[in-house]
Amino acid sequence: MTHHRAPGNRELLRFLTCGSVDDGKSTLIGRLLYDSQLIFEDTLAAITKDSRKHGTTGEDIDLALLVDGLEAERQQGITIDVAYRFFQTPGRAFIVADTPGHEQYTRNMATGASGASLAVILIDARKGVLTQTRRHSYICSLLGIRDIVVAVNKIDLVNFSQETFDRIVGDYVTFASELGFRSIMPIPISARFGDNVSARSGNLPWYHGPTLIQHLEQVDVAQDLTTRPFRFPVQWVNRPNLDFRGFAGTIASGRVAAGDAVVVAASGKTTRVARIVTADGDLPAAAAGQAVTITLEDEVDVARGDILVHTTDRPEVADQFAGHLLWMDEEAMLPGRSYLMRIGNVWTPCSVTSIRHRVDVNTLEEHAARRLSLNEIGFCNFSAGQPIPMDPYAENRTTGAFILVDRFTNRTAGAGMVAFPLRRASNIHHEHFTVDKAARAALVGNKPMVLWFTGLSGSGKSTIANIVEQALHRAGRQTYSLDGDNIRHGLCRDLGFTAEDRVENIRRVGEVAKLFVDAGMIVLASFISPFQAERRMVRDLLGEGEFVEVFVDTPIEACIARDPKGLYAKAQAGQIKNFTGIDSPYEAPTTPELHVPTPGRTAEECAEDVLVQLRARGVAC
Ligand code: ADX
Repeated sequence: MTHHRAPGNRELLRFLTCGSVDDGKSTLIGRLLYDSQLIFEDTLAAITKDSRKHGTTGEDIDLALLVDGLEAERQQGITIDVAYRFFQTPGRAFIVADTPGHEQYTRNMATGASGASLAVILIDARKGVLTQTRRHSYICSLLGIRDIVVAVNKIDLVNFSQETFDRIVGDYVTFASELGFRSIMPIPISARFGDNVSARSGNLPWYHGPTLIQHLEQVDVAQDLTTRPFRFPVQWVNRPNLDFRGFAGTIASGRVAAGDAVVVAASGKTTRVARIVTADGDLPAAAAGQAVTITLEDEVDVARGDILVHTTDRPEVADQFAGHLLWMDEEAMLPGRSYLMRIGNVWTPCSVTSIRHRVDVNTLEEHAARRLSLNEIGFCNFSAGQPIPMDPYAENRTTGAFILVDRFTNRTAGAGMVAFPLRRASNIHHEHFTVDKAARAALVGNKPMVLWFTGLSGSGKSTIANIVEQALHRAGRQTYSLDGDNIRHGLCRDLGFTAEDRVENIRRVGEVAKLFVDAGMIVLASFISPFQAERRMVRDLLGEGEFVEVFVDTPIEACIARDPKGLYAKAQAGQIKNFTGIDSPYEAPTTPELHVPTPGRTAEECAEDVLVQLRARGVAC
C-alpha cells in the first residue's frame, strides 16, 4: 500500500499526526502545506482575515486555521474529525491524516492510523510526554505502525534547550521500548516559525539530524506486501454469462500467476488459476494492490467473502480467536452480547466470550475487566458465527483486521486486530443423532417452541406463564418452565444484576431453552430480559417460528404499587442497586409476537391472549 505512485510518479507516503490538544498538530500540517507551496492565493487571503478573528497568533497567519476546516471546530479550538491532506515535495508525495487530540476521539485517531505507515507524534516541549502521547503511541503500535517521528514542538518556547529535548526524548524512548517500533526519530521543531520543518534552524546548532521533511522524504517505510503470502479476498463474483465466471477483488498481499495452485481458504477446495483478467486485457501475473478478476480451472464454490490463497501458504481458519479490541462506542461492550463482525468481505455475528485483560494505555498495565467502555482497549477471546480465514494482524493488516458493529444502531462500535486463533470448538464436531427434534416432538404430538415472557419485575410474567402452562398441560402438551427467580438459584447462581451479568444470564437461559426445544418441548421462559440485544440473540438461536416474544406490559407505577416481593420499596430506598425500572433500564419490545397489556385485566384474561396465539400457531390447547 505504501508503494503506490502519486501523480508525477513520486512515491507516496501516508502518515498521521497525533498528539494532545494544543500540541500544534494543525499548525504543523499548515506549515507543511505552506512550505510545500500548495496554498492557493485566495485561500491565503481568507486565512489572513480569519486569523484576526479566531487566531491565537496575533497578526501572524495562524496556520492551524488552514487545516481546521470546520467553523465549529474553529470556535471550539479543537479538531474533531479526521482530515486528509495531500502535499508533495520534489522527493515524495504525502497524504497526512490530521487526527484529533481530544480525549473523546480515539475513534478518529484509529481511523487515521489504519491506513498510515508512519506517525508523527507531537509533544509540546513545555509539557513533555503526556497521557495522550502514550495513548496515541500505543494505538499506533496496535494498528501496525512501525515508524515514529517524535516531533518535540514549540522548542522556541523553551529557549531551544537541548537539555529539555533530551529529557523528553529519553522519557519517550523508555515508554515506547515495549511497543515494538522499528524506528523512532526525534526532531526538535517549531511548527509556528518553521524551525526544522522544511528549513534547517539556526536556532538549534546542537541538532545534527534531518529536518522533518528530509526525514519524511527519506525514511524507508516499505512494507513490501508483494513478498508476503498471497491473499485475495473476493469482493464479488462476476458472472456476465454462462461462459464466464470470475472473482473480482484487490490482491491484499503477495503475488499470483496464471497456472498457480490455489485454494479457497475456508472450504479447502483446491484448483488452479486459469486467467488473470483486467480491463486492459489478461495478465500473466499480478501483485498486491492490483484490482483483478481471477478465473479458475475448475467449477469450485467461491462466494463474496471467500479468500483465495496459495495451497502452500494458507491462513488459519477459525471461529474462535484472540485479539485486541479498541472500543469506540458510548455504549459499553458486554461479553456475551452479539455484534456484527466485518472481516474482509465477510459479515458474521460475533461476541466476546471473555476479556482476558484490559490495557491501561497510560502505563500499559493489564487489568481484569468485565466490560469495555468508550476508548478502552482489551485483549479478548472472540467467537464468530462461522469459521473465518484470518492472519495475525501483525502479519497482514487486511486479513487480520475487523470491526464490530452494533446490531441496532449500526454504528461501528469496535476495531479489532487478530492475534491468534483458538482451538476450541473447531476440534469439536457436532454429533448427529438419528432421533432428532422432529422425531421427539412427533412422539408426543408437540410443536416445540419458546414462549418468551419479558417485562418488568412484578409485571405478572410468571403468573401468566403459570396459567398458560396449566392449560397446555391439561391439553396433554409437554412443557417446561424456565423462570428468573428459579434459575438464579442454580445455573445462574453466580450472576448478579449488572448489565454484563444480565447479558450472561439471558445467554445461558437462551442456550437451555434451545436444548428444551430440541427435546421437543414447549418452553415458557419468564425473565425481565431488559435488553433488546439479548432477546434478539435468543431469537436467532432458534428456528423460524420457534421464538414467540410475549411482552407483559405493566406500567412501572402499577408494578411499584403491587410490589409482590417488596423489592421496589427496597430499590427506592437505595438498598438494592441496578433495579430494573429504577436505576437500570428496560428496553420494551417494539415488535413482539404478542403484546399483552395487563392494566384492568385479570391474569386469566391475559393468559387467554397467549393461548389464542398458540392455537393460531397450530398448538392444540
Ligand atoms: S434479568 O434482567 O437477568 O432477565 P431475571 O428475570 O433473571 O432478570 O431476574 C429478575 C428477578 O430477580 C426479579 O423478578 C426480582 O425478583 C429479582 N431481582 C433481585 N434484584 C433485582 C434487580 N436489581 N433488578 C431486577 N430484578 C431483581
